[in-house]
Amino acid sequence: MSSQRSARPSVSGSEGGGIAILGAGALGRLWAACLPPAAAGFVPRNPSALSSFRLHYHFQDSSGRQHTVTRPWLTTLADAELLLVTTKAGDTLEALNQIIGRIPESCPIVLFQNGLGSQQAVAARWPARPVLAASTTEAANRPEPDQVVHAARGHTWIGALTEPATGLVPNIIRQLSPSGLDVRGEDRILERLWGKLAINAGINPFTALLDCPNGEILESPLFLDSIQALCEELANLIAAEGLPPHSPRELRDDIERVARNTASNTSSMRGDVQNGRATEIDFINGYVANRSRELGLSAPVNQMLTERVKQLVPHPSH
Ligand code: PAF
Repeated sequence: MSSQRSARPSVSGSEGGGIAILGAGALGRLWAACLPPAAAGFVPRNPSALSSFRLHYHFQDSSGRQHTVTRPWLTTLADAELLLVTTKAGDTLEALNQIIGRIPESCPIVLFQNGLGSQQAVAARWPARPVLAASTTEAANRPEPDQVVHAARGHTWIGALTEPATGLVPNIIRQLSPSGLDVRGEDRILERLWGKLAINAGINPFTALLDCPNGEILESPLFLDSIQALCEELANLIAAEGLPPHSPRELRDDIERVARNTASNTSSMRGDVQNGRATEIDFINGYVANRSRELGLSAPVNQMLTERVKQLVPHPSH
């Protein structure tokens, strides 16, 4: 897992195919650390600003073992065979726009963003590109800028969003399999993303507003006063979207189960607030509020949580 030899700052000729990773946060670094050293590198958004050809960090794997990881910043993307986009939801469109002209037309683009909205925006902007979405339960965090912890193993589901991506999933799973992470194909990726969004909508804003780990929200007055209405809003929107229905009770059970199972975790949204970064609220509760409005439904609890979380970081860094 640790990098012994210096990989070249190009993805050509690398074992397992040239995998380019856009977004050097916890998830991008997890993938880079797990893939063979010469298979993957990071995409610089601004190559002229690079001060080094390589990115170094410490990685704690899911068994607690420590590794030193060194991966290249890719100076050419002309032979990229797969692009993993692990930027925050709010940065994705702009980050891709900066680099998409440098990657081959045929290179599959796999979007790993939380929530919904950014994936549809990318697919709508580049419908002739092979664009896919991934939903992952791999838990990775970054307690220090140069340290990544693989907190818990999970699964990753990948499915096509645009027509040119149809049929590409088996090959992408082959390209990612040397990582040892569990990757599966998903024909109904939007349903999968909705399932994750519902859980994030019922956990993340509460952890951010209450500044507490996931498990502590369950007894809080804010959660207890709003969760029923929040789940009704989610259930109404899921039905209006034509997706398989979920009752408010089922949604609440799922949210509470995940909060209990991850009781001591700091959610990604609480982590963003603690670090003064922009949160993904617009793509989670904000997405629910906006889509509800577009479809003639009302979602006041999701709207209220969106507004309150935005007030926590009025001038975010990215
Ligand atoms: O966003 C997160 O942190 C996670 O998806 C979840 C489920 C809330 C667990 O921390």
